[in-house]
Amino acid sequence: MRVLVTGGAGFIGANFVLRTLATRPDAQLTVLDKFTYAANPSTLQPVADRIRVVRGDIADAATVDPLVAESDLVVNFAAESHNDNSLADPSAFVQTNLVGTYTLLEAVRRHDVRLHHISTDEVYGDLDLDDPTRFTEETAYNPSSPYSSTKAGSDMLVRAWVRSFGIAATISNCSNNYGPYQHIEKFIPRQITNVLTGVRPKLYGDGRNVRDWIHVDDHNDAVWAVVDRGRIGETYLIGADGEVDNRTVVEAILTALGQPADAFDFVTDRAGHDRRYAIDSHRLRTELGWRPAYTDFAAGLAATIAWYRENRDWWAPHKEGVEAAYARTQQILD
Ligand code: NAD
Ligand code: DAU
Repeated sequence: MRVLVTGGAGFIGANFVLRTLATRPDAQLTVLDKFTYAANPSTLQPVADRIRVVRGDIADAATVDPLVAESDLVVNFAAESHNDNSLADPSAFVQTNLVGTYTLLEAVRRHDVRLHHISTDEVYGDLDLDDPTRFTEETAYNPSSPYSSTKAGSDMLVRAWVRSFGIAATISNCSNNYGPYQHIEKFIPRQITNVLTGVRPKLYGDGRNVRDWIHVDDHNDAVWAVVDRGRIGETYLIGADGEVDNRTVVEAILTALGQPADAFDFVTDRAGHDRRYAIDSHRLRTELGWRPAYTDFAAGLAATIAWYRENRDWWAPHKEGVEAAYARTQQILD
């Protein structure tokens, strides 16, 4: 099977490439990636002789068209992915997440190629902390940020292309991923690398916001389950029952690294900060038989901490720049 992995040099896409190489010897992988700030070229270096890597933009039809034409499957991970960046400047989010997805859709339509579109639970907005419900495939879209609204728009484009043009596409909406190779702008790697560099972790607002954590390998196994066995035109929610509030995550990181659990700072809250995400992955589990392997968040977090500890070369050159950018907009609160 010839697979085009767009965004395959980013966090989840690169883990998808590494896991696919390890588990599916029949797959021939081409990565199409723009290599924005979010891509780390060293991630795929060890497997460079086993894949083809094309540097290019999913919004550029001249690049996309021939790559799609020669593929059996496109898995679209390419996106601008960080909420804080989308608040600072939404333009790249509109261009990549909307125009880029549109460009891929037109190519898969032209060449009749199967598409799996990677999306997020953030399209559903947020839940109150005490709300007993969780997101399902039937929950109404209600995105809050420029990031999540462009992802919601990209999902709508996919659905419209399925219905109007009969393309063979599926969508998955996953909760917050953690694991190796995640950019250090994101919450968990930011706090781990803060502690490792002697900087106090930074919690937005009151620190009670809840995210539903899933290990990136469990996400990518679910993606393959949807590709292999999912119904065309369907949406599948991916989640591993991993709800934890941000303060608890920071305290766990500090404790694991031998620091006092309260050695963190509260900083300015994110504008429009979603309170809680929670996924009901019943459809994925009952229809496709998927189960997460990482059911113990503490163990998965410990492995992730160990990875960042042992792979300083991967992240250390970027640390100062990421923290300097955050310092321009975030004030430490008393
Ligand atoms: P990431 O920011 O780590 O990686 C995104 C990759 O896309 C980078 O390699 C970047 O260079 C590439 N890219 C950006 N614009 C591009 C363009 N125009 N053309 C080609 N490549 C481009 O993101 P991630 O966390 O790996 O997320 C991957 C996908 O999964 C995104 O669609 C995101 O919305 C979705 N998702 C992420 C999470 C999460 O917790 N990180 C959860 C659910 C869904
Ligand atoms: O839910 C899926 C989404 O998860 C994906 O679609 C996004 O691509 C991904 O970035 C992630 O979005 P979040 O906004 O939830 O992730 P982030 O890592 O930015 O923040 C997680 C939580 O931690 C959130 O409540 C904000 C908070 N936070 C974040 C940072 C960077 C802090 O308290 N301090 C921080 O320094």
